[in-house]
Amino acid sequence: MGDQSYGIDVKTVSRIAEEIKGIHEKGIEVCMVVGGGNIFRGVIGADYGMPRSAADSIGMLATIMNALAFQSSLEQQGMKTRVMSAVAMPAICEAYIRRKAMRHLEKGRVVICAAGSGNPYFTTDTAAILRALELECELLIKATKVAGVYDSDPKTNPYAVFFSQLSYRDVIEKNLKVMDKTAIVMAQENNMPILVCSLETEGNMEKVLFGEGVCSIIS
Ligand code: GTP
Repeated sequence: MGDQSYGIDVKTVSRIAEEIKGIHEKGIEVCMVVGGGNIFRGVIGADYGMPRSAADSIGMLATIMNALAFQSSLEQQGMKTRVMSAVAMPAICEAYIRRKAMRHLEKGRVVICAAGSGNPYFTTDTAAILRALELECELLIKATKVAGVYDSDPKTNPYAVFFSQLSYRDVIEKNLKVMDKTAIVMAQENNMPILVCSLETEGNMEKVLFGEGVCSIIS
């Protein structure tokens, strides 16, 4: 959204795409899982009485719009990409097929996964863990609005305590709001490390991947 209250801010998309390009140019294969909260949040739709499955379907469609925006921006910057959707949408993009996604990654393409896991009630975070496991990723990065994991929201609590290293169990037991429980439990059961860092500080993702900059690691 950038500074907007809604929708796709092309400048922000382009800046994030530049960060992805920087990482990719260092020889790191990148698969992105994009959410859709800047357009529509399924849970909020459900809060207003919409059946959760319908609300989540709208949310999944929102992720396709974001994926296409990223694809355009990455390709404008000279990268090769493929958008793969968990919900079949042949006129718009490819369907997500694990083995095909692996081939795209091997060929140096950035794979942008859209439509979550294709199921209502599952969040983008859970889809991200699922894709990270399926595609045999070494690390899942959750790029977000804050520098990492805190014991409370640092945007509202100036005394929030920051954790640079923590376990899955810490996240679950302390009820830390970094990801939903389904996602964390899946990561825990399959030992998928999660790096949480800010998407708002320019160049940060690349820095933390090379051991500099601020981030939290859940393992
Ligand atoms: P390789 O087989 O590794 O060469 O991969 P490729 O993705 O280049 O081959 P393919 O012929 O499958 O795709 C060519 C282009 O068509 C790519 O830009 C794909 O993203 C796109 N594409 C492939 N399948 C679909 C689909 O079902 N729907 C849409 N809209 N585009 C597709």
